[in-house]
Amino acid sequence: MNAAGSRNLTELPAWQRLAGHYRAQQFDLATLFAQDPQRAATLSARCGDVLLDYSKNLLDTETLRLLIGLARERNLGDAVSRLFAGEHVNVSENRAALHTALRATSPVMLGGHDVTVDVGRELDRMRTFVTAVRGESVVADVIHIGIGGSYLGPAFAGEALPAYAEKPIRVHYLSTVDGGALQQLFARLNPRTTLVIVASKTFTTTETMANAQAVQRWLAGQLGSEHAAFTRFAAVTARPQLAVAFGIAREQVFEVWDWVGGRYSLCSAMALPLALQIGMDPFDALRAGARAADDHFRTAELDQNIPVILALLDVWYANFHRAASRVVLPYLSGFARFPAYLQQLEMESLGKRATNAGTVVGVDTGLVVWGESGTNGQHAFHQLLHQGTRLVPAEFIVACRAVHAYPEHHDMLLANALAQAEALMTGNTASEPHRACPGNRPSTTLVLPEADAFHLGMLVALYEHKVYAASVIWDINAFDQWGVELGKQLAARIQPELAPQARPGTHDASTAALIHHIKSHSGRRS
Ligand code: F6P
Repeated sequence: MNAAGSRNLTELPAWQRLAGHYRAQQFDLATLFAQDPQRAATLSARCGDVLLDYSKNLLDTETLRLLIGLARERNLGDAVSRLFAGEHVNVSENRAALHTALRATSPVMLGGHDVTVDVGRELDRMRTFVTAVRGESVVADVIHIGIGGSYLGPAFAGEALPAYAEKPIRVHYLSTVDGGALQQLFARLNPRTTLVIVASKTFTTTETMANAQAVQRWLAGQLGSEHAAFTRFAAVTARPQLAVAFGIAREQVFEVWDWVGGRYSLCSAMALPLALQIGMDPFDALRAGARAADDHFRTAELDQNIPVILALLDVWYANFHRAASRVVLPYLSGFARFPAYLQQLEMESLGKRATNAGTVVGVDTGLVVWGESGTNGQHAFHQLLHQGTRLVPAEFIVACRAVHAYPEHHDMLLANALAQAEALMTGNTASEPHRACPGNRPSTTLVLPEADAFHLGMLVALYEHKVYAASVIWDINAFDQWGVELGKQLAARIQPELAPQARPGTHDASTAALIHHIKSHSGRRS
């Protein structure tokens, strides 16, 4: 935390100026475009060949100037330097958040040690493993056991980058603890051609460990011995000793470190299933794209800096326009899981009410993030975007070039994305209320040249940095997640009470009644 970080946000001069500016303006997009013929060019930014068009947002150049002023009063530039330098920006856990070191090409020192040496070693080990597995015909299926940050990144990217799969290795993600998922997998998979990855930074997450044990028992039963089962296991963790104690050979354990947050770990060995699917070279391209975004975030002027602009848009909508959510609309079917990936990245990072100084924030923080790949949403929830009563800023993600052989389909997809953004902004002049679309609804469009591995990596890192920039403005910790702990403790208490013969524990009346109802209808007898 810095000096400005310790000050109440709403007392900052820049905040007061923004509040006055918000009250004084109408922010009518038709008028703003009419007044400024250069608006589309002025309110756009580039990171390499990625374009951000934010001209369809409810702001003008004065708003931007004031928002940048707020970022300066929060010493965002210094905060960015502290992130890259490995300072303990994760204040509550007293740790660095050095996901940028996962793709750095020059030394990154932490406690006198160059962590890129460790990163390089694990990447080399990963390359050897991936090359061996992809080179042999024995492995047809991979079960990846992990949840949250140990699952969402590779699952999203694995669906988004199918065009790179030279050798078909099917990856099955086992995240939640629903036994139905296990049962389906066991019925489908051949144990002799299945590899299992247990991915858990802590190697203690209950769902992951329960699934790992169940898969281990299944494999041991099918292959005839515990030893044979464990030869099929690999692990990714920050606690290799726990993976070894579980029974996995040390050579098959890949390391991450406590200075990488789970939801920021896509460029680490957490992407092992992805690398098995797409190969190591595309994974390197993904890391190179992320590195290009790091350079952009570190060096671009604040008003040209895509993560900074995206963060300021969230602050503008959350705190001044009082929007509660933002919809993310990738017009790329492979990006169907991107909203889920972003939900963890943004909501676990920015869903905070305590400042780094230990006070209550006093303004709304992280927006609810939701979305769906286009054009599916158009036939589901876009109705609310066009005619509903709530303000929901929209974020479109499109790619100029298709990675498939159906260019007309790609044109249709792009036409729909552009049409939705235009319709949200312009609305119509229908006289009948049920046909009228008021327009003036904001959107941002991110344009990738192509949704390849490089640009996917760049996109992910742009959002990682956007989250950090927003956390600096709100003076909250983007790298902890204490709010999830209470539910874990209560689940551990409730689980034994669900056994047929168990006595009920002490709960609120609603929870007690639910436990009683579920037990009496479970079909299990004591
Ligand atoms: O419960 C939340 C969380 O801690 C996430 O932050 C994390 O990504 C996920 O659980 C999985 O944790 P682990 O990788 O330690 O199993």
